[in-house]
Amino acid sequence: MREHDLFERYESAFDGADDTMRRKGKRTNRIADDAGPTRRGRMTEEEKLRVSRLREDQLSTADTPEDGDRWSTWGDADQGPKPHPDWLITELAAVDRELGIVKTGKEADVFLLERAIGERSTLLAAKRYRSNDHRMFHRDAGYLEGRRMKKSRETRAIANRTAFGRNLIAEQWAVAEFAALSQLWQIGAPVPYPVQRSGTELLLEFIGDADGTAAPRLAQARPDEDELLDLWRQLVATLMTLAEAGITHGDLSAYNLMVHDGRLVMIDLPQVVDLVANPRGPEFLDRDVRNICGWFASRGLPHEIGDPSALVATLLDVAGMA
Ligand SMILES: Nc1ncnc2c1ncn2[C@@H]1O[C@H](COP(=O)(O)OP(=O)(O)OP(=O)(O)O)[C@@H](O)[C@H]1O
Ligand SMILES: [Mg+2]
Repeated sequence: MREHDLFERYESAFDGADDTMRRKGKRTNRIADDAGPTRRGRMTEEEKLRVSRLREDQLSTADTPEDGDRWSTWGDADQGPKPHPDWLITELAAVDRELGIVKTGKEADVFLLERAIGERSTLLAAKRYRSNDHRMFHRDAGYLEGRRMKKSRETRAIANRTAFGRNLIAEQWAVAEFAALSQLWQIGAPVPYPVQRSGTELLLEFIGDADGTAAPRLAQARPDEDELLDLWRQLVATLMTLAEAGITHGDLSAYNLMVHDGRLVMIDLPQVVDLVANPRGPEFLDRDVRNICGWFASRGLPHEIGDPSALVATLLDVAGMA
């Protein structure tokens, strides 16, 4: 079947078909065949045209605020864990304004966003996962082992890499990162507060200065001896917090740690690895620790302090896996 047909099929299968399928407890392709007078399945060309005109109207009839790019999307999104930080703006009348790009990547682009209402405003980092072909190469195999995935039309769309399927993959990574950040924030790990997730977009606490300058990554830091030791202690404490929760970062490096006012902040967590459920968990932990210890060693941390084998052993012990 051509990709185009598949896409159409999955798309139409989504138009309200979900409820019907759940009620029937069946996972078949009956939606199109069942099309009766009250059907909510495949649309005729005419209907499609009408819907697309409606959409265009909605986009163009200025349901956009005068002083921003969109109304706050808070109300429609998965919302971050409670208690909400006091700087969070939850009013639905708030306005989002895009101030620029922080960094483009292969897998996601990060933008600087301002959410404001009246006198109050807050900076946010908007991380938008891309759904092109080239993303997530280094994170596909392995990470998903031990995660349960239900067999469904979504799974098939993903396997077939339709445009719809690729978007679902991107959304899955956004969902995974939002869940990981929420969990980590709640157990007190130093991560950006996960404000919300909708579709492939995550809004995160902006790590940086009030003027919109993002904090440097650890890789760019040139700490003196004392600062290096302090960063090392923060790293070990963070890894311990993760190990206590039975997880490791999965892609830890000096690029996925930021340093803001001397404080180490861990970012980029969609591939977080469950040490027990993932059969390769200890392997990922070992790799994470060796990677980051390598950076500390290259900056002059003495081996007897930054010994990777000792740290791996401690973390496995903390995780109850020694
Ligand atoms: N909460 C944040 N506040 C400020 N800047 C951020 C934030 N999150 C990410 N960034 C910036 O965006 C960059 C990319 O973010 P992240 O690592 O999460 O995405 P990525 O697509 O995996 O990028 P890469 O492929 O470079 O690892 C970070 O290195 C950092 O400079
Ligand atoms: Mg990264």
